[in-house]
Amino acid sequence: MESKILDGRKLADRIEKDLIEELKTFPQTDSTAPGLATILVGENPASKIYVNIKRKACERVGIHSKIINLPETIQETDLLSKIRELNNDSSIHGILVQLPLPSHINLNNIFSAIDPRKDVDCFHPQNFGNLLIGKEDLVPCTPKGIITLLEHYQIPISGQDVVIVNHSTLVGKPLALLMLNRDATVSVAHIKTRDLKKFTEMADILIVGVGKPQLITREMIKEGVVIIDVGINRVAGKIVGDVDFNGVLDKVKAITPVPGGVGPMTVASLLQNTIYTYKQLIM
Ligand code: GUN
Repeated sequence: MESKILDGRKLADRIEKDLIEELKTFPQTDSTAPGLATILVGENPASKIYVNIKRKACERVGIHSKIINLPETIQETDLLSKIRELNNDSSIHGILVQLPLPSHINLNNIFSAIDPRKDVDCFHPQNFGNLLIGKEDLVPCTPKGIITLLEHYQIPISGQDVVIVNHSTLVGKPLALLMLNRDATVSVAHIKTRDLKKFTEMADILIVGVGKPQLITREMIKEGVVIIDVGINRVAGKIVGDVDFNGVLDKVKAITPVPGGVGPMTVASLLQNTIYTYKQLIM
């Protein structure tokens, strides 16, 4: 039987191998290697883990990774100065400010300060605006990873009822645009949605990223749905998603595991975006 599990780990490994091959085609010395700068503000334990995962992935493919740790108390003006310094650093081709940031910092000011040519997260208004008009040169990492995974497993998007439970700038909003660009019929649900089940049970493709284990149960989905679980939760020492995986498994057409689904695809997309901005800047 065809596998129901959308294996993000396996596809991410393949993407890394392809990037390694691609990088061999560029003449490289230490000073010309692609460089990704990651700014980590504060001591958020999950952010530290994610930044470390990204650093290791960069090292595997030959991207120079520079991590800048800044204190939780940093003023916005100082963070903006750091970003401007990286904008002007010719050894840096991608800049990522790890989220979340402390609440005294205005996120939109940060997104707008990153040179759009180095904006590997695709949160600069210019790049985000390009998504809106269907120009997908740079795409935010998690939505990009989800689309790559669906396309790899040849899951049709055009004409499908896609329901996204998340309306963040990181995931829900850009993913809705990517789905619209592919002619899906898109609904976006969120914390204020009155009747979540009304939406989830009509989905052909259901994408959930809320941070609530067991949010999506068997009764809430239709037979043959494709589920993409973006949730990452720690329950009794184990990482689980937002979907009751075992409860829904025999009812779905396909589903991403947690871990091993969207997470590795997000990292692979970051590597792809960094190589993309690198090529744009050096050519
Ligand atoms: N925190 C969680 N996911 C992300 C992401 O994709 N980009 C950034 N910058 N921070 C994150």
